[in-house]
Amino acid sequence: MTAPQTDEAKWESKVDREVVLKWQQDNDSGFNPSADDLEFLRRTAGIQEEGELRAHVVEVRNRAIKVFPYPCIFKYSFASTRITKIGGFKKTIQLAKEREGALLLDIGCCFGADVRSAVLEGFPPKQIVASDLHAEFWDLGHDLFRDTQETMPVTFMAGDVFDPAFLSSSPAGTPASDTPLSEVKSLSDLHGRLSSIHASLFFHLFSREQQTQLAGLLASLLVLEKGSVVFGHQIAAEEEGVGQHVGKWAHNIASWTAMWEEALKGAGWTGSVGVDAKLVVGSEWVSKLGIGTHTMYWTIELM
Ligand SMILES: C[S@@+](CC[C@H](N)C(=O)[O-])C[C@H]1O[C@@H](n2cnc3c(N)ncnc32)[C@H](O)[C@@H]1O
Repeated sequence: MTAPQTDEAKWESKVDREVVLKWQQDNDSGFNPSADDLEFLRRTAGIQEEGELRAHVVEVRNRAIKVFPYPCIFKYSFASTRITKIGGFKKTIQLAKEREGALLLDIGCCFGADVRSAVLEGFPPKQIVASDLHAEFWDLGHDLFRDTQETMPVTFMAGDVFDPAFLSSSPAGTPASDTPLSEVKSLSDLHGRLSSIHASLFFHLFSREQQTQLAGLLASLLVLEKGSVVFGHQIAAEEEGVGQHVGKWAHNIASWTAMWEEALKGAGWTGSVGVDAKLVVGSEWVSKLGIGTHTMYWTIELM
């Protein structure tokens, strides 16, 4: 097993540290990409020979673990992409065709696999904003996918979604700024400007209160017009509340729906809210984390 070499101060709590380290000991099963993942990695990294490609991914992963050993990094989720499998993605591609300059945000983007996948499927990279707490992950993404800021001209912003200097709410009805994307310094500069937000393997990192706060903050970034979407997937459960003992909260479909309806209302949306969500029984490694039992794939649409 690769020993995690993060410094203690990076851990949010002792519980997080103990849970993750124990989980790593039990789950070090190596890199087992699906045929789709291999194809995606070949297309992005441009390495065709399988052995060489695998070694490349493992080498980047071992550097990423030293930034912060999220289970999704340990299990190589960063080398896999599911964005195209979620209903909101088709709508996002449609929005890029229908709304001039439509912007997509990938929040908690990590290495940016989903961003690369969106670009491969035709979403213009100059209309994508990617954001993560750790800028190092985005840089490692350039190493992993063997591209550069010039060849993958996505706007990346590092920051903590709970830092009001980076993302704060503005009163409903505040006009959107017209600061060009190249000059935008924080997510707050994007109030009312995003057509689509993708958030995967992200919300389940937080408590129920934090998730409610986050949904409100993200809702305030949306263009309040019919068709705007928020979509993603994360650990969930049939009975909400699993994960509380480790400071996280697994939503079920009903609680997730209620949270977004409230968030969008708070952001000033007076129309209805379409929710397309399904629960799939989680893989063994998901349930071993103790946060939830299922994976929820979801799309929230302004209607
Ligand atoms: C589990 S990974 C998910 C990555 C990617 N979205 C995926 O689907 O594979 C969670 C990501 O959220 C980022 N993150 C965690 N807390 C955050 C915060 N408070 N603000 C912004 N990003 C955060 C982490 O750095 C990490 O890259």
